[in-house]
Amino acid sequence: MNKVEHEDQLNNQVWEDDGTVDVLPGTPARPTAADPIQTVMRTAISRRTLLKGAAVTGATLVIAPSAMLGTSKPAVAAGDPSDRLTFVTVPAGDGSELDVRVPSNYSYSVILKWGDPLTPTAPTFDVDNQTAATQAQQFGFNADLVLWYPLPNYVRSMIERTGAMNPLVERVIGFQYPRLKDRTAARALMVVNHEYTKGRDMFRDYVPGDATQVAVEIEAHGFSIVELTHGGGAPTFDITSPFNRRVTGSTPHDITGPLRGHPLMQTGDDPAGVTVLGCLNNCAGGKTPWGTILTCEENFDQYFANFAGVTGDAATVSRRIPANSGASGRRWEDSVSRFDLAANPNEYNRFGYIVEIDPYDPNDVPKKRTALGRFKHEGAACRITAKNKVAVYSGDDARFEYVYKFVSERSYSKYNRAANKGLLESGTLYAARFDAGAREGDDMGTGVWLPLVWEPGNALDQAGFSSQAEVLLNTRGAADVLGATPMDRPEDIEVSPRSGKVYVALTNNSRRDGDPGDTRMVNGREVSSAPNEANPRNNTYGDGSDNTGNQHGHIIELIETGNDAGATTFAWNIFIKCGDPEVAAHDTSFGDVADPVGAGVSPISDPDNVVHDDDGNLWIATDGQYYSGGEVGFGQNDGVFAVPVEGAKRGLLRQFLSGVPGGEVCGPEFSGDNRTFFCAIQHPNDSNAFNAVWPIDDPDGVSKPSLIAVNEVTGAKIGR
Ligand code: FEO
Ligand code: CA
Ligand code: CA
Repeated sequence: MNKVEHEDQLNNQVWEDDGTVDVLPGTPARPTAADPIQTVMRTAISRRTLLKGAAVTGATLVIAPSAMLGTSKPAVAAGDPSDRLTFVTVPAGDGSELDVRVPSNYSYSVILKWGDPLTPTAPTFDVDNQTAATQAQQFGFNADLVLWYPLPNYVRSMIERTGAMNPLVERVIGFQYPRLKDRTAARALMVVNHEYTKGRDMFRDYVPGDATQVAVEIEAHGFSIVELTHGGGAPTFDITSPFNRRVTGSTPHDITGPLRGHPLMQTGDDPAGVTVLGCLNNCAGGKTPWGTILTCEENFDQYFANFAGVTGDAATVSRRIPANSGASGRRWEDSVSRFDLAANPNEYNRFGYIVEIDPYDPNDVPKKRTALGRFKHEGAACRITAKNKVAVYSGDDARFEYVYKFVSERSYSKYNRAANKGLLESGTLYAARFDAGAREGDDMGTGVWLPLVWEPGNALDQAGFSSQAEVLLNTRGAADVLGATPMDRPEDIEVSPRSGKVYVALTNNSRRDGDPGDTRMVNGREVSSAPNEANPRNNTYGDGSDNTGNQHGHIIELIETGNDAGATTFAWNIFIKCGDPEVAAHDTSFGDVADPVGAGVSPISDPDNVVHDDDGNLWIATDGQYYSGGEVGFGQNDGVFAVPVEGAKRGLLRQFLSGVPGGEVCGPEFSGDNRTFFCAIQHPNDSNAFNAVWPIDDPDGVSKPSLIAVNEVTGAKIGR
């Protein structure tokens, strides 16, 4: 997450890559936050153009003649799932493009912006008079995860009439949801995460630690649940909905699963260890088969101070995920003591989880599901196993961290939604080991799911773990013991609704810069910095220099043995190695496309959030493209790309949307009928939000992270 590094630069923090703090992403050669974003991107793109030895326009950089698929579409068999992807490739924004771009037969609408009131009585946003009370009733900051849920009329009228969920209606939602989620709906619920705050982009007079501003920031975290009306064209936000609500950094959450009540979860404010205030740094997430939300706490370490003062078991379980040793950059600890770990060491143990909440029940208390482990969860992709258990895939987004899978102990039943809501309380957590398979260096192999299960005398016991609770608190450490494979920053994971194949976005790893035998200290342990079979690139600058890391990221396709999400072995292959296909040194590959440049593949870097359309094509949003590539740079605004994963055009990745300067694109999501595409524009004009404004017509004079919807002008399915 480049934005975190940016923030750290702002706070003048020094993040050492020596294991004393978590390794934050980014490249040493990245521009500083002091560089105006326009300059940075123009510099980057001109370097890239020079590298190619041709003076070309931004448009011709990305559109080869054969890529104009609206006019010259490759011949494919009828029924090919990629047939719908006929949109004309959108040129990447190069920094001079200040607004979102979509194909010419599409339009986009801003649905909700930071500060928008979510109820009729909520105060109007006033950037110069923000309070915790007003922010708690308004759309939060830095929108990330976006999920769409159909809202049947009977659910809405019941909640409107009674204000509470009825057990019979709950049951009906349970068995109707699997069908309704893929259909047209007149009303829908959306969840949008508010991952993190950046004070200097929120307050003209930002002062880290200012008690009033801290209170606003805490309320700007968490997520929003809102109701939309679909009436053809762009959906609209219904401010009168009884479902509209905020969950923030101060909302009570239940601690559920094996760690509920554990001594390491007990604090002075919560001696029973069962309730924690807030979720923080909610990044990506996913939908359960029973229609609840899973939202993931990612970089929760940055909120806590004085980890150096933590001793004993509390220090041991966070050895691999340490917080700031002294003051935090935000200095929340100055006014809210639970963020000071010297005084409240166990508060830290209560963050880093997957949170489940029911969008259909406005009274539902969010639940932290401790059985799924504690790490920097990025996503939560569910699939029912052959034995009717639920599997949840999740990545740990940090350099050299792991991919995980949870399989529930109990079985799913579509007729018992209330019971399904407890399925994530118990089960087996696995970490992934990616093996080379039959041959080295062929970008494919096999793998094993390693069960993170403590038993007396087993490897975890012998390594010093004393209980399963310790395994769940120190998930990274347990995965180390069993030999999981360190990956190049696992971001979002999604399961194809068509094939069951699992797609893992590895966004980049600038520290994957070693040769065999080279090691470095990362997150409290020594790790090989050399490439491995599943993370094969250590040299992607493209400027002729050696060992410059995996700057552009890749996407792995994982196929469970027997196509069963409950399997303990799998096969895998590298579906895409990102970068600019025109730059040989990027060493890219795109599925089965033999000539990516000739075929019109778009340059892409830093794949982050992903989603499938209902034909199984993969849609990828990026985070950090403009900075990628070190000295050479990539120089294009973040965007959205669509790529077929099956059929004759497997790998023919093309750009669908271009974002705005400084803003990553998050969320990607479809309405059930796939006629509306949603995404979030996070931190537009990052670090420059009071000087450059997006949405560009916004009257408040500050850039606002926003949820947008994209529609084809005739209402066609997205992709045409
Ligand atoms: Fe919050 Fe891994 O991006
Ligand atoms: Ca191999
Ligand atoms: Ca992400």
